[in-house]
Amino acid sequence: MSERTNAKKVILSGMRPTGRLHWGNYTGALENWNKLQDEYTCYFMVADWHVLTTALDKAAEIRQNSREMYLDWLGAGLDPEKSVLFVQSEVKPHAELYLILAMMISMGRLERNPTFKEQIRDLNLGGEISYGHLGYPVLQAADILMYQAHVVPVGEDQLPHLELTREMARRFNRIFGDVFPEPEPLVTKFARFPGTDGKRMSKSLGNTIEISATPDEIRQKLRPAFTDPARLRKSDPGNPEICAIYTWYQKFMPEAAAETAAECRSAQRGCVDCKMKLADGIIEHFAPLRERRAAYEADPGKLDEIMAAGCARARTVADKTMALVHDSMGIG
Ligand code: TRP
Repeated sequence: MSERTNAKKVILSGMRPTGRLHWGNYTGALENWNKLQDEYTCYFMVADWHVLTTALDKAAEIRQNSREMYLDWLGAGLDPEKSVLFVQSEVKPHAELYLILAMMISMGRLERNPTFKEQIRDLNLGGEISYGHLGYPVLQAADILMYQAHVVPVGEDQLPHLELTREMARRFNRIFGDVFPEPEPLVTKFARFPGTDGKRMSKSLGNTIEISATPDEIRQKLRPAFTDPARLRKSDPGNPEICAIYTWYQKFMPEAAAETAAECRSAQRGCVDCKMKLADGIIEHFAPLRERRAAYEADPGKLDEIMAAGCARARTVADKTMALVHDSMGIG
């Protein structure tokens, strides 16, 4: 990294491969990553080891899900020529840096991590908490520091992990000399993006629509989707502000949003018509993504090559960082 001649700052971000990405992932992360590719040197990582921290039983699905994640990324426009797209478990030095960083943080600090506390509550893990789960943020810090990243685009839920990463970087630098920049979070600003039931779109709530959904699937999922519950008949005036459909108009068909709100409020347009018009717009919005995805899906050899090349680029950088770490620590 030290011989980088341009002044571009480095970005690293990652996602856990747990299945096809949905509109919430697109609006909250992918769309933004896409824009960052020109301004920054970007590393985008499939965080497959991280899946094991809470879903060891899903291990057999992780390989296929990692491929699906690349397809969604490539479909959405991430460019393997511009950005390094890699798989965490294919870059073994992450495991070594994780081990070293584990010495830079106290148990108490990890136990106080609010994300960890929430997961224990929400996942009903009770007494069954693995050592690896407690160390989730240490592995994440290794991911980030390995590329000497300056900026980490994340959702708000990840801010505690970024703070922990900064603490580990500071501790390392204080003891062994300046190796790691302290990474800054870049919080992806997006309004609470609704799922088909009006609650936040989230895989665990079963209210998602996938970026790769076919036109038929999009229509099927939109038909029963959440609207203003007080609007029982078409002749009742509606309130678009509380309607998931209207939020999606604003996001995916902004040019039709004002008219839609007016026709809803004046009871000129019924919800069924409103949804089918939106379906047409969304089908068109995602058509280029679906087509790009399908082209890669039809060429598994090409996908293998893209994956292998991205992992090799990441390994080269990781090896250089580890050489710095070994030198500064005098071990390894
Ligand atoms: N913890 C992140 C999530 O669940 C995924 C992740 C792993 C990550 N390593 C990372 C995000 C490094 C940013 C940087 O969304």
